[in-house]
Amino acid sequence: MLVLCVQGSPRKEGNTAIMIDEFMNEAKKLGVRTHKIEVTQKRVYPCIECDVCEKKGLCAIEDDMQEIYGLFRRADIVVIGTPVFFYGATAHLKVIIDRSQTLWSRKYVHKLNDPGRQWRKGFMLTVGATKGKNLFDGLSLTAKYFFDAIGAEYAGFLGYRRIEVSGAIKDHHTAMREIRDKADELIEPFCKRKNVLFICNENACRSQMAAAFARVMAGDRCDVQSAGSVPADDINPVMVETMAEKGIDMAYIKPLGLDQVMDGWTPNLIVSMGCGEGCPYVPGVSTEEWNLSDPRGKSIDFMRDVRDEIEDRVRKLVASFA
Ligand SMILES: Cc1cc2nc3c(=O)[nH]c(=O)nc-3n(C[C@H](O)[C@H](O)[C@H](O)COP(=O)(O)O)c2cc1C
Repeated sequence: MLVLCVQGSPRKEGNTAIMIDEFMNEAKKLGVRTHKIEVTQKRVYPCIECDVCEKKGLCAIEDDMQEIYGLFRRADIVVIGTPVFFYGATAHLKVIIDRSQTLWSRKYVHKLNDPGRQWRKGFMLTVGATKGKNLFDGLSLTAKYFFDAIGAEYAGFLGYRRIEVSGAIKDHHTAMREIRDKADELIEPFCKRKNVLFICNENACRSQMAAAFARVMAGDRCDVQSAGSVPADDINPVMVETMAEKGIDMAYIKPLGLDQVMDGWTPNLIVSMGCGEGCPYVPGVSTEEWNLSDPRGKSIDFMRDVRDEIEDRVRKLVASFA
């Protein structure tokens, strides 16, 4: 599983950064993979309302947001952190929020289903200098609609008032404990899932389809990953098209190697499809071999047949977990 944290303050060691690190350190203690986006380190341009995402489901601006879309898609929990700036988010974070309109378009205009949205959670950490009752109202609404766009259920926020000087949050009498408790509460249910790994040669077609179907059918019960023994540069566009016919959105997914997936993550079950000797041997882990034809370079009808066979096999596999 992946906990993705977006540190939205321009102060690199300020209050928001301290809160985000507290959450991430607790996640690491629970044995979970984490990734932090420092907004000031990213080159992300503001949305120009060109409507390309409405028409094509993709953003025309080529910048670091393309990588961030992929991270949102991979994450099980997304945490955004921001100080209150004029009752809203910092400009750096707001740019990322606005650019998430692309994922909103894929979901609501193109009616594509990102499998992760069934269980992904979103949470916000925030801090402000004043003590007004409405201090976090604007941010709460922004967070609610942002998390909906990226396919995450908004699980609320922790906000601290009267914190101004950099580092002052450390002296707050409950903040750090509350952040750790919230991390435990959000992460622990995910840790109970069974870890399932699908592997093929390139992680471009078969193992990607199997993982997507498994996520749709049982993502709440299984942490599903996929990998290739020799990963391709990109997933197969014909596979993406045939999965879209099933309403499943494969955008922003990249092929991964076994070393990337198994770094700090151990499967309980490996399903291998045609990677032969490239299939890893993990002591004590059961392995299934699925004899599936390689659809690479074949017609779209061939891809559809392989897709349907995979869907059928995955349905039987996840039924056996119940
Ligand atoms: C441009 C700017 C706008 C701010 N607007 C507000 C505000 O509307 N309300 C508030 O309580 N604090 C406001 N603050 C104060 C910050 O929220 C506060 O200092 C916070 O602790 C900074 O957190 P950080 O260390 O994570 O950057 C503002 C600060 C700046 C620099």
